[in-house]
Amino acid sequence: MTPRDAAQEPLLRLIDVGKTYHTGEVPVPVLHDINLDIMPGELLVVVGPSGSGKSTLLNLIAGIDTPSTGEVWFQGANISRFDERALTSYRRLNIGFVFQFYNLVPTLTARENVIVSTEISDDPMDVDEALRLAGLSDRADHFPSQLSGGEQQRVAIARAIAKNPQLLLCDEPTGALDLETGRKVLGVLSHLNRDLGKTVIIITHNSAIAQLAERVVRLASGTAISTTTDHERVRPEEITW
Ligand SMILES: Nc1ncnc2c1ncn2[C@@H]1O[C@H](COP(=O)(O)OP(=O)(O)OP(=O)(O)O)[C@@H](O)[C@H]1O
Ligand SMILES: [Mg+2]
Repeated sequence: MTPRDAAQEPLLRLIDVGKTYHTGEVPVPVLHDINLDIMPGELLVVVGPSGSGKSTLLNLIAGIDTPSTGEVWFQGANISRFDERALTSYRRLNIGFVFQFYNLVPTLTARENVIVSTEISDDPMDVDEALRLAGLSDRADHFPSQLSGGEQQRVAIARAIAKNPQLLLCDEPTGALDLETGRKVLGVLSHLNRDLGKTVIIITHNSAIAQLAERVVRLASGTAISTTTDHERVRPEEITW
């Protein structure tokens, strides 16, 4: 294989992926027939209405949940076949996850929440740099209960980027933010993508954010339609909502 071929291998490949939850008495089909290649260094935005399966899709990619049908491949390995131990290692070594509802540890300060994630990383970013990028330098010693919703969201972002993973999965990363702070956060994600070569997947119900990406995936009726945008990527500071 030539280096050029290697460069064109997808980082992630979803093949006929489906997910049905069997939590209650009635099965809940959420996703079906998802076929998607995500290239290294890509910034992909996934949009879709509430309940369309966006968080479910991200959880499958993150190895937090497993598909009911189909396969998820990462760098040539079928992670759908991984056991718990292999999945833990996959998540630890490769994934930074910004949770929709932050999932901060309430008894740790902002800085300590970020430190925890650097401790499980092979190649962490400087903790203060991650806090600075998220605009939190002056709130680092506050506990989550002492932070606003938007500040907590930015701690979740600092925690994910401090791990310095090659794949950043962001579930509504600007959901609790005003326009100006949202632009800053998108600026950080865009910087990590453009300047540091990270692969970034952003999930949102805000279609304005789709302008950031060269490719947008729309989730509707349980399946995904991928479209390449016909305009230049818009800079985060130019986005408005
Ligand atoms: N563990 C679960 N058990 C049963 N049903 C679930 C489970 N998790 C999600 N669902 C259902 O799957 C559907 C998709 O949920 P998901 O959280 O992926 O949507 P979403 O697109 O992220 O929505 P939102 O924009 O509101 O966050 C919903 O109808 C939800 O009720
Ligand atoms: Mg969601």
